[in-house]
Amino acid sequence: MNTLDTIIDRSKTPSAKYNKTLISSFANNEDARPYWVADMDFKSPQPVLDAIKKELDDGILGYPSFNDTKRIFTSFALKRHNWQIDPSLVVISPGMLASVALLIELYSEEGDTVILPFPSYKPFVSILEGLNRTIIPWNLPFDRSSSSFHVDMDSLERLCAQHDPSILLFCSPHNPTGIVFSRQQIFKIATIAKEHDMMVISDEIHADLVYPDVVHTPFNTVSKEIDLRCATCMAPSKTFNIAGEHFSVIVCSSVEMRRKVSRRQQSLHIAADLLATVSARAAYQHGSVWLDQVLIYLQHNIEVIRSTLKQNGSAISLVVPSASFIAFLDCSAIYDKVALDALNHPDIYKDRGDGGLLSRFFGVYGNVAMNDGTWFGDGYEKFVRFNFACPSEKVIEGINGICTAERSLS
Ligand SMILES: Cc1ncc(COP(=O)(O)O)c(C=O)c1O
Repeated sequence: MNTLDTIIDRSKTPSAKYNKTLISSFANNEDARPYWVADMDFKSPQPVLDAIKKELDDGILGYPSFNDTKRIFTSFALKRHNWQIDPSLVVISPGMLASVALLIELYSEEGDTVILPFPSYKPFVSILEGLNRTIIPWNLPFDRSSSSFHVDMDSLERLCAQHDPSILLFCSPHNPTGIVFSRQQIFKIATIAKEHDMMVISDEIHADLVYPDVVHTPFNTVSKEIDLRCATCMAPSKTFNIAGEHFSVIVCSSVEMRRKVSRRQQSLHIAADLLATVSARAAYQHGSVWLDQVLIYLQHNIEVIRSTLKQNGSAISLVVPSASFIAFLDCSAIYDKVALDALNHPDIYKDRGDGGLLSRFFGVYGNVAMNDGTWFGDGYEKFVRFNFACPSEKVIEGINGICTAERSLS
């Protein structure tokens, strides 16, 4: 048996994904099975657990100082992405969102415009709104017939010409569409950014999770060719399922940028914690075998989703990702019926603080908790996001639940 098939009971842990109050707030059913928060239901790599255990066995969790963490990361990036990084351009930071927020704050002013691709991971919106930046949505058009999102370069050019943005806040591979951008596409985006003197902050937290045979292009490898200001941020958290141990890496495009970011971190006393750093180091050094197995398993789970939808004769379609473990499900075919059901049964769809019609519909009728499409911006109410980083048996259970809900409409 594949160890990734093992079902681990997380319900008695402090996991956010399994928290009944949170689940109830958007699924209207605290017992709905969780397929939302983006962490995996797989045990983290054993070398990571061993490294943490060693610290605990030593028994003193004092201030850490490591000399070679940047080198450990750059070696991993070279092997995984064929990316040669000068360690003097690297800054270590706590979580990815902390890195993104710091960079936005450092490289733009209140009132400045920032281009953000949509659909968007919601915390990007919260960061920009919280820092009083003006968001310019760059929509990735959806083609329903092929169930896929696309990149519209003309609209990016137009938005840059109209709004004179300071920053493009990019997400590559893209959450939630699962797009892995080609080198050509990244080059085109970088060229547009250069023309408009726009800095790029590229959140590449999902980069190590591109599937076998898919190639990820780190933004800095392209921006270097055209001398563009760019910060590429990576992290081991999604890759190795250690998201509770906040750690990320900012790769700056110049020493000047590295100095500015480091100085700001120092003045705010921001540093990665001991166990987060220990986990990241062990993962980057010894986690690759585990990661390769997980990637094969995730690709298999995509097939499981497809075939289970098909067996059920479902009208819901999967937006097939090229990386990571989250996927949009296009529910346009059933949305109008759900909206009608909501009119007839307003009590079932009561707003408990979060979510939308679909997350409540699937929560109540299918016992499945997923992020509602509205979480990713206006106009995505006909989608839900399904997290398939779990044993295939649970994927089948979840998709069957979705299809049970769908059948309740007929
Ligand atoms: C694109 C993206 N960025 C950032 C994060 C969160 O990163 P962190 O927990 O390290 O702040 C996530 C988590 O799902 C994500 O998908």
